[in-house]
Amino acid sequence: MSLSISSADQVRATASRLDSRLLIDGLLVAAQSGRAFEVRHPATGELVAKAADAGVADVEAAVASAVRAQPAWAALPARERGKRLIAASQLLGAHADELAMLIALESGKALRTECRPEAANVADVLQFFGGLASELKGETVPLHSKVLAYTVREPIGVVAAVLPWNVPLMLMAVKIAPALAAGNAVIVKSAEETPLAVLRAAELLNEVLPKGVLNVLSGDGPGCGAPLVAHPQVGKVTFTGSVETGRLIYGAAAAKLVPVTLELGGKSPMLVMADADLDQAIEGAVVGMRFTRQGQSCTAASRMLVHRSLHDAFVVRLKARVDRLLIGDPLDERTDVGAIISRPQFDKVLGYIELGRNVPGAVAHDCCSLPADARFADGLFVRPVIFTGLDNRSRLAREEIFGPVTCVIPFDTEEEALAMANDSDFGLAASVWTRDLATALRAVDALQAGFVQVNQAQVAGPNISYGGFKQSGLGKELTLESMLEHFTRSKSVLINFI
Ligand code: NAI
Ligand code: MG
Repeated sequence: MSLSISSADQVRATASRLDSRLLIDGLLVAAQSGRAFEVRHPATGELVAKAADAGVADVEAAVASAVRAQPAWAALPARERGKRLIAASQLLGAHADELAMLIALESGKALRTECRPEAANVADVLQFFGGLASELKGETVPLHSKVLAYTVREPIGVVAAVLPWNVPLMLMAVKIAPALAAGNAVIVKSAEETPLAVLRAAELLNEVLPKGVLNVLSGDGPGCGAPLVAHPQVGKVTFTGSVETGRLIYGAAAAKLVPVTLELGGKSPMLVMADADLDQAIEGAVVGMRFTRQGQSCTAASRMLVHRSLHDAFVVRLKARVDRLLIGDPLDERTDVGAIISRPQFDKVLGYIELGRNVPGAVAHDCCSLPADARFADGLFVRPVIFTGLDNRSRLAREEIFGPVTCVIPFDTEEEALAMANDSDFGLAASVWTRDLATALRAVDALQAGFVQVNQAQVAGPNISYGGFKQSGLGKELTLESMLEHFTRSKSVLINFI
């Protein structure tokens, strides 16, 4: 397969071709209402394309197509489905460059630091689940010598995957790959801000999947997401996004008693113990806080709890390190940090920064500088801010900001650090920085978070179970077990052969 290298203009042409389209039953179609909404490049305000504004009629068409396609897909041998996913992985891998640029245009994330790694991870996730398809095994049970007792894993049927905008393509892969491998048909609902890379990837996937097995809708939450989730023939919902919307989706699924997987917010603590390697912790803080993604990550290390003996040096060094990041044109290879996704998010982030500045005793350490080029005068760029002098009970330390804003909070004892870390409504991720194994293991044991790392704070990837405790969600993703648990149902069979 040849690698396709795309220029920004070619990618803009692709975006125009996909203008105002949905993907239903293997075809690119307009919304039945004819309505569409604008997708703008957050760095400049440039109109990238319009996206079809799907409503109830389009949901009906997508579900009907999925219901028709699913039985034949499920009837394929599991390994055959796996091979299709591996072919899909190769196809998306060959188009990774184009997909990365589409993500950069619609999301404002930097191409080199964020969008290319995201596109590469998408291919990786598809390949991982493609390989796991033949592991959809049941069990035999030694019940009785004259009764053959066993279980089989069946697909659920039609799955709805509702996506956010922060890592749109990666999260599409995380949701569709296990669902498809297990023999389900999937209807994706992309986020309003980022419909294009998802649609283009689905168009490519439709080259190797039977039509109707993967349909894509774009539209808003109430008009498209809600009727999709509530549709009687949707048997499973998987969602990543806000706690508020997660609750609505859980409620809608409860009304018809179907299972959900929810990946929601976070306020992930990073605990820097007195004996931590400071060089490693500073680099880890930059990665952990996802500064190159403008902090738009549910696992962002947005509470840095640092032993008092290291606190001042940590703040000075972290600021110096973040200052080296270049904020600017997402498409420029030199750029480390792009723009915030949308005006509402931009206003939300600036609102929190203002709130922090007004807390008595708080100090805002503003990092980096904004791009000077007049092209970016209306760009949604925000300078990263490191707050000190804020309490763990302050709103900035409790609420998910989803922007490049972190607080560094000192502690004196390990008990105090762990108590602060757990004093949160969220429980998605945490990291501990120490040279002492016993300290690390005590923290691992005590931390109420679904994803705990020691001396690193990387993003989640295939083969490590990913999902939060408390308000951070329900269920796990990215593993064989998550595929079996969340995208199949188990049937018990007893055969009496006396
Ligand atoms: P959101 O949770 O409202 O949107 C996520 C997706 O859900 C979008 O596709 C949206 O159209 C859909 N949706 C909205 N209402 C729905 C409904 N009633 N039924 C079905 N689908 C619905 O998140 P939003 O508004 O984009 O961002 C708000 C905040 O959420 C952010 O500031 C951030 O704190 C958090 N967030 C967390 C993410 C995570 O990775 N856990 C990702 C994105 C946002
Ligand atoms: Mg919302």
